[in-house]
Amino acid sequence: MHHISLPVLHTEIPSTQESNLGTNMKLIIAGANGLLGTEIVRQSLQIPEITQVVALVHQTVHLDESIDSSKVKNVVIDDYGQYPDDVKAEFAGASACTWTVALTPLQPGIDFAEVKRVCQDYTKLGFEAMCEAGPARPFRFIYLSAGGTPRDPTKDPVILPEFFIMRCNTELMVQRFPTEKEGLEVCIAQPGVIANYTTWSRALVANLWRIINRFGQSLPSIQRSELAAAVLSQVMDGFEKRTLANSDLVRLGRRELKFRSTPRSS
Ligand SMILES: NC(=O)c1ccc[n+]([C@@H]2O[C@H](COP(=O)([O-])OP(=O)(O)OC[C@H]3O[C@@H](n4cnc5c(N)ncnc54)[C@H](OP(=O)(O)O)[C@@H]3O)[C@@H](O)[C@H]2O)c1
Repeated sequence: MHHISLPVLHTEIPSTQESNLGTNMKLIIAGANGLLGTEIVRQSLQIPEITQVVALVHQTVHLDESIDSSKVKNVVIDDYGQYPDDVKAEFAGASACTWTVALTPLQPGIDFAEVKRVCQDYTKLGFEAMCEAGPARPFRFIYLSAGGTPRDPTKDPVILPEFFIMRCNTELMVQRFPTEKEGLEVCIAQPGVIANYTTWSRALVANLWRIINRFGQSLPSIQRSELAAAVLSQVMDGFEKRTLANSDLVRLGRRELKFRSTPRSS
């Protein structure tokens, strides 16, 4: 058991769902080399209940050699839209997936069709492949969206309207997943800017958002460690809500990190 002493609220989830996944959990981390994916991998290594980690990646994840990473299996794919049988076999029996694969149209000249393929089509194809592989029940799938994504695709967002409408439609698509297949639980996380200064370009983006915040409506943000902790706690303990806003993620992430740092009597 993970959070045995802490209440888990299932405010928007039917009460029939099981909550804690218990021990021996197999977790698929899709996009494990990404900004958030890397941190989810790092934290999952510290959680004993997670006994197998499938790092779904384009290139092998390189972990610090001083850390025991024997429970991590790199599953390298050419394309997040194609899942050969040997890849699907690695998904079999998984209890959860954190889906962090995405592409933001910030680089000049980027083709929107490619952005849509990465953000929307791959999400659907990845989810379907995991379902076909025969996951554990329940199987929890958390899809990382972005704060500011509207729920009404007819309303034009102020920033990057084409992108956010596409992500809105992706969220609506994800919301329909569980009704199609029983025993599957789906959650949408809408983090704000992931505060991170690990590389020059990331620091630039983080500072750019800060400047935007000064001039416009304040944009929410979250520490990378808090977001990874929130995501992990939710797939292990059960989804509190179908959609987690940035404020929920900050609260859950802080609670989880505090829980992990609290010494427990044996
Ligand atoms: N970063 C932020 O501030 C922020 C803010 C709000 C929401 N989010 C959301 O949180 C999630 C994770 O964000 P992140 O910053 O960790 O993402 P990221 O590092 O930019 O990318 C995550 C993964 O997406 C895959 N990917 C990226 N471009 C691709 C392409 N052209 N073709 C195929 N795969 C591609 C990569 O997989 P490989 O490494 O295997 O190539 C990458 O590891 C995303 O859904 C993002 O939209 C992020």
